[in-house]
Amino acid sequence: MTDKIQAKVMTGSLGTSFSETIGAALSSPGFAVFNSPHYVIFPGFCDVHVHFREPGFSYKETMKTGSKASARGGYTAVCTMPNLNPVPDTLEHLRCQLARIEADACIQVIPYGAITMGEQGQTLADLEAMAPYVAGFSDDGRGVQSEDLMRQAMLRAKALGKPIVAHCEDNSLLRGGYIHDGAYAKAHGHRGICSESEWGPIARDLKLVKETGVSYHVCHISTKESVALIRQAKAEGLDVTCETGPHYLVMDDSDLQEDGRFKMNPPLRSPEDREALVQGLLDGTIDMIATDHAPHSAEEKAKGLEKSAFGVVGIETAFPILYTCLVKPGILPLERLVELLCVNPRKRFGIGLGQDFCVWDLEAESVVDPGAFLSLGKATPFAGWKTFGRCVATVRDGRLVYSA
Ligand code: DOR
Repeated sequence: MTDKIQAKVMTGSLGTSFSETIGAALSSPGFAVFNSPHYVIFPGFCDVHVHFREPGFSYKETMKTGSKASARGGYTAVCTMPNLNPVPDTLEHLRCQLARIEADACIQVIPYGAITMGEQGQTLADLEAMAPYVAGFSDDGRGVQSEDLMRQAMLRAKALGKPIVAHCEDNSLLRGGYIHDGAYAKAHGHRGICSESEWGPIARDLKLVKETGVSYHVCHISTKESVALIRQAKAEGLDVTCETGPHYLVMDDSDLQEDGRFKMNPPLRSPEDREALVQGLLDGTIDMIATDHAPHSAEEKAKGLEKSAFGVVGIETAFPILYTCLVKPGILPLERLVELLCVNPRKRFGIGLGQDFCVWDLEAESVVDPGAFLSLGKATPFAGWKTFGRCVATVRDGRLVYSA
C-alpha cells in the first residue's frame, strides 16, 4: 500500500503506522486527487491554545468559524480556553460549550475547564465534575494570583490525573502596561509590561509543582527567563511542558507598529527573548507551538496599541509562517516542526490522531490576506507577509473538512 504513495508523507516520530493510514485514505476515490508528487502530507496539527468565543462572544468567533479556520490551517484538533460566558467552571456551564462543539465543530474540539469560579481567582471551580470532559484546567486570560489557591488546584488536578495549564501573569507588576517594557515602549512613550510579570509566576508555580507532583503546562511563554526556568525544571525531572506562539518566534518589539494588530498578551518581547525562544525550540525546552488564536471584532482591534483588546488570530497562518521563517532558512528541521505542531501536543494532552491529516503544497507562495480568513477575527501582525505553503486539504477522522 505505502509504496503507491506519490505524495511525500512526513510522519515525524509517528513512523509507518501513519504512512499506512495515509496509504489507505489516498487509495479511496475521494482522496486520490491529493496523491500528487507536488504535495506533502502531515498528520493533523493540534493546537492546545485557542479562543473560540462560544458561548458568550459569538460576534468575535463561533464554533463553526473557529473550527473551519482551524481546518484551513491544517489543524484537526484544538483545545479551547475558558474565558467565555458562562465560564466553564461547573458541569452545567461546561455543557453550554459542549453543546456548541457537538452541534458545530468540524474538527475535534476539547475544552479546558476553569481553575477558579468565573476565572475570578477566589474559589476553586468544580474540577471533579468537569474532569472527564476537559483537556485540563486553566484560567487563561488571567493568572491565578493566590499561591495557596494554585496549590489547592494542583493537588485536586493531580488527584484527577489532569494537567494545570497556566497563564502566568502577576497583576501586581502590570502597572497599566500593554506592550513589552523594552526599546519600543521607551522610544514611543508607551507603558510597558515587564518580563518578571511572566517569569515570576512561573518560578512560583515550579516550586508548587515540586511540592504537589502535578502535570504542569505553561501557556505562551515569551521571555528568556521563562525558557531558562523551564529548562532547569526539566533538568530536575519535574513534569513540566510549555508552549510558545508563532509570533514570539519570528517577531519582536522592533517589529511593533502603532496598530492594534500588534497587541497581544503576553506582548512581543525583545530580540534576545525571541532568540532564547528559538533556542528553546531547538533544544527541546519548548515542547510545542500553540497559536493563542484570539479573535476580536474589527472595532475592538481598531484602537491602537494602548486601547485595543489583547489578542491576535493565528490558526490560519501558523504553518506557513513557521515554514517560511524557520524551516526554509534552515533554522528548524521540518521533522521537528511536525513534532511541535502535532506529535508533542497530542502526546502531552492524550489527544489521539486517528485518520487525521493535512495536505500541503509547500511550493505555493502567497501573501497573508486577512480578508481571506475563515475566522471572524482579522487582526494579525502577519498581514502582507509573503509565505510559502498552502493547505490543499484537511481530513478529520477520514472526512474532508477543508479543501482549497
Ligand atoms: O492576547 C491575548 N488574548 N491573551 C490572553 O491571555 C487572552 C486572549 C483573549 O482571550 O483574547
